[in-house]
Parts: sequence; structure tokens; C-alpha cells
Amino acid sequence: MGSDLSALLLAQQRGCRIGGSALYDEVLGAVLADVEAGGPCGAALAPYADEPTAAAVVLRFLAAVHELVLSGEADDLAGHYPSAGGRPGAAVGDAFVATVAAHLDRVRERTGRPIQTNEAGRSAALLGGYLVVSGTGLPLRVLEIGASAGLNLRFDRFRYEGRTGRFGPAGAPVRFVRPWTDAEPRLDAPLRVAERAGCDLDPVDPRTPEGRLRLRACLWPDQPHRRERLEGALRVAAEVPVRIDRAEATGWLRDRLAEPVEGVATVVVHSIVAQYLGAEGRAALEEVVTAAGERATLSAPVAWLRLEPATVDEAEVRLSLWPRPSPVAHHVLARCGFHGPPVRWAAPRATRRRSDG
Ligand SMILES: C[S@@+](CC[C@H](N)C(=O)[O-])C[C@H]1O[C@@H](n2cnc3c(N)ncnc32)[C@H](O)[C@@H]1O
Repeated sequence: MGSDLSALLLAQQRGCRIGGSALYDEVLGAVLADVEAGGPCGAALAPYADEPTAAAVVLRFLAAVHELVLSGEADDLAGHYPSAGGRPGAAVGDAFVATVAAHLDRVRERTGRPIQTNEAGRSAALLGGYLVVSGTGLPLRVLEIGASAGLNLRFDRFRYEGRTGRFGPAGAPVRFVRPWTDAEPRLDAPLRVAERAGCDLDPVDPRTPEGRLRLRACLWPDQPHRRERLEGALRVAAEVPVRIDRAEATGWLRDRLAEPVEGVATVVVHSIVAQYLGAEGRAALEEVVTAAGERATLSAPVAWLRLEPATVDEAEVRLSLWPRPSPVAHHVLARCGFHGPPVRWAAPRATRRRSDG
């Protein structure tokens, strides 16, 4: 098996280690050895070996196997996966490879599906950006591209508790306690979502058992805090309907941004999506959003809020706000983990700027 695959596996192993999954660190060590020995993991991954790192092939493969565990089809491996009530043991690597061998065709086929890590933790990093945009004094029209199941489109239904304030309904099923390491956004700024909509190439319906299974399978099995967050977000999703269109990001946005919409602040948002668009897609996205920004007015402002990787182990939250001049044009608001907290808030506290000019 080619060294490209080994390089992908090593990079993902490092990512899982940094991201706090000792289980996947161990599993990927075994997968690497199996691939190098010409075993079943290499056969499952072979059709995808030439894909770029950004396509997250290894995470797709891990999710395909996790899905078997969660659906009760891989009992031996389930014994090692905390997400299925197990405890990681020394034989986890062997159990993983044996599961791949036993379900090779399905694992290979499911590895072809896009990764659907719909991580509600990212809302903790994005909230500050929404609060800054709310400083326009207008309700928000939120348009999310690559929304997956749209869990983060319900960000205002989650609870955030900082040292200096609170945001969101007390008793919400998703609760962030002190997600900010130091400075915090101004959490008492008024914020209302007037409209929420999203698109995804392969949307997941969080109201169906298959959709929920897929979302759970994309989590890492030894991260109970993320599992708890996902279960809470699924409860919120059941209460707050949001339509996610099956559509490619740029075309979908172009339609929605064709005309300024009066009386709302339109926020284009995405998190961990840019890498999947490719260089051309990213350039097209920038062009569409910038063109809409140039048509924006004080009564129909446009914002571009994004959480995307800045380095191999950290993401950055950026905000652009039109019309210009704007005090937050292309501002880096925060640095955070790929799954959200801890968030290092780097921007000034949100202030109302309705009369800015
Ligand atoms: C890693 S997930 C992130 C999901 C969500 N944004 C979050 O942060 O939880 C990436 C998502 O982008 C979607 N995606 C990838 N390329 C896309 C495109 N060109 N247009 C629309 N969605 C896309 C995938 O289907 C997937 O749901």
C-alpha cells in the first residue's frame, strides 16, 4: 500500500491525539501496521488513497466502523468503545482490524460518504461573532453552508455561561460553561434570529434514526462530553425545525444573496467546510459573499462569519461585516479547537453600532 495512505493515517493519528482521543490514537496505530502488512484496512481504504488530506478519508473510515459498533453489528469492538458502553483494552487494535475484515465491503463503501461531524461545540466559538453582528441592532438572517444536520443553526437555543454574563435559555439541553479561556464577548447584547436556513451536499436529517446514527458515528468514541453535547443538540433540533437544502454551497448562496434583504443582518456562516470546497470553490465563495457585501446597506447589512483551520491544531473565527467602513471588517475574533472550546476571544466586546456610518 502506498506511502500516501500511511501519511494520511499518521496525520490523522496525530490529529486524534491532539484532539484528545487516546482510543483513536491506539486504533490508528493498529490500522497503520495493518495497512503496511497488506491487511483488510488497506483494502477498505485503497479506493480513497489518492484523496487529499482535506477530504478526511481516515475520519470517514473510522466513522464507517463506529457506525457498525453503534448499530450492534460489531460486539467485540463495542467492548472497547465507551460510546457503546465498553472500556478500551489492549486488544482494541486487533478487534478493529477484525471488524474491518468481517465487514469489508460495507466499510469500504461507507468510507466513500462525506464526513458528517456536526459539532455543536463550534457554536461556542461562533456565538461571539453573532453577537458582534447583532450590534447592528437588527435581527439575524442566518445562512449556513455545509450545515450537515443544521445543529449549529440552533445556536441561540443553547446556553452559554461565562464569567461576565450568560446567553441562551436556562435549562437548554446544550450548555457551555466557561468556554472562553480569558476575555469574553459581551453576552448580554440583544440577539434575535429572524430566519435560519442551510445547505449541504449531503444533508443529514437529525429527526430520523439513520440521521442520528450517522451523526453519532462521526464522533470519537471516547469523548463523552461531545456525545452529551450532540444528544442535547438533537433534542433542540427536534424542537426547532430548520430546512437544510441538498445543494452545493456557492450556487445556493448566490441565489440567497442576489438582493439585499431589508431589516435583517444577513449572516453567511460556515465551520470546517472551506477545506472541502477546494481552491476554486473557496474563491467562488469569496466572490459571492464579497459581491453581496458590496451591495449591503446599513438597513440590509451582510456578515461573513467563519470558523476554519488556521494551523494544524487550531481553528480561527473570522468576521467580515458590510457596509464598510466597519470596525470589524475581516476581524479575527477568536482562536479555538476544531470542535470549539476552549475559545480564546480576541475581539473587543460587542457594541451597538446602528448609527455608525
Ligand atoms: C466537517 S462537516 C462540518 C459540518 C458543520 N459545518 C459543523 O461545523 O458541524 C463538513 C460538511 O460540509 C459539507 N460540504 C462539503 N462540501 C460542500 C459543498 N461544496 N457544498 C455544500 N456542502 C458541502 C459536507 O457534506 C459536510 O456536511
